[in-house]
Amino acid sequence: MVAHTVLLDFTVSSNVIADIDKRSGLKSLITRVLSDHFNGLHAMTESTIGDSFFVLYTGPRGSLITVRGYAEGLVTVNIEYYKGDNEDALMTFKSARDLETTMQAAATATRSHALAPLKRGGPFERYFPTADERLLEYDIDKLVFEARSPYQKVEIVHSKSLGNLLVLDELQNMSEADLIYTETLMQRGKENYMGKEIVILGGGDGGLLWELLKEKPKYVTMLEIDDIVMKACSEHMRSICGDCLDKKKGENYEIIVGDCVNALAHMIDEGRQFDYVFGDLTDIPISTTPHGDAWDFIRLILNSSMKVLKPSGKYMTHGNGASCPESLSMFEEVLAQLSVPVAFTKDRAFVPSFFEDWIFYQVTRK
Ligand SMILES: C[S@@+](CC[C@H](N)C(=O)[O-])C[C@H]1O[C@@H](n2cnc3c(N)ncnc32)[C@H](O)[C@@H]1O
Repeated sequence: MVAHTVLLDFTVSSNVIADIDKRSGLKSLITRVLSDHFNGLHAMTESTIGDSFFVLYTGPRGSLITVRGYAEGLVTVNIEYYKGDNEDALMTFKSARDLETTMQAAATATRSHALAPLKRGGPFERYFPTADERLLEYDIDKLVFEARSPYQKVEIVHSKSLGNLLVLDELQNMSEADLIYTETLMQRGKENYMGKEIVILGGGDGGLLWELLKEKPKYVTMLEIDDIVMKACSEHMRSICGDCLDKKKGENYEIIVGDCVNALAHMIDEGRQFDYVFGDLTDIPISTTPHGDAWDFIRLILNSSMKVLKPSGKYMTHGNGASCPESLSMFEEVLAQLSVPVAFTKDRAFVPSFFEDWIFYQVTRK
């Protein structure tokens, strides 16, 4: 059971909205076209908001239809109703397109567009944003796991094309189809991890740990704050993490549950040095202590990581979507202002569950 919202719009000349008579003619025409489409259409109220007009109708099956004509000539039509599990849709994409075409012709609109129905309020969410906040609809058909940890909302949903997908605080993190993400993050084939000492900051899905262990490192220490993420992935994302999250200590790895900032501070005090540090935190990492804004926190993580890297060591991390050049530039500015001078290289890969190219950084001390 979900609320369906069908959105369509068209554009007429702005003087059709501004001119009282033409505006009235447009409203009558819209009412006529909607009545032809919906049995029992009833105009509830109409009003003006600044230079725009607004009409509210009720339609069949408790549907609510709002029409707004903006002074600039844009007219939006929003149709919303509740669809029960066993009910047919009141409007399909096809019928929305038919209504759009009729409306466009009747209003001699210069352009028009209809969107496939938006679905809200069901047992799982199906919309996630790209890095630059464009809306993507996923083919989710099942909620596999749901919990609220002390740190974040943790969900695993099933997508018909991606397999299981880890969603943290409403953002897609890792799917079973995202091996390319982990391989680009670790620069598989370009870096040699054999016999190396490695730290992973975050990485709760276990994908990076699992792939690194295949490369025979000397020891991997993973610092992850959220045990619920790891338990959920260990059970439902086994194709990406294997059995490495089943226990906190293996032959050549250890998972320390806690804030990586505190664990890094201990490592610095103890003078520990590593060949690689991986920043595999959520895009906005969780801070258990007040550290200013997200950029201050990222700066703190980078500066702390540099202190535990051997002079020949590398810091490997994911940046942001290629669609966000401003955010990537800011990250590069942060790199340029660290407490030690660094150099960096970049790589990119199309990540299936993000539906966009993602940028990955390899940072070394100069
Ligand atoms: C799931 S992983 C991988 C990130 C993912 N590939 C993405 O799309 O950004 C990110 C992990 O970072 C962890 N995390 C966030 N802040 C943390 C912190 N301060 N210390 C340790 N782990 C943290 C989260 O709990 C999460 O499990």
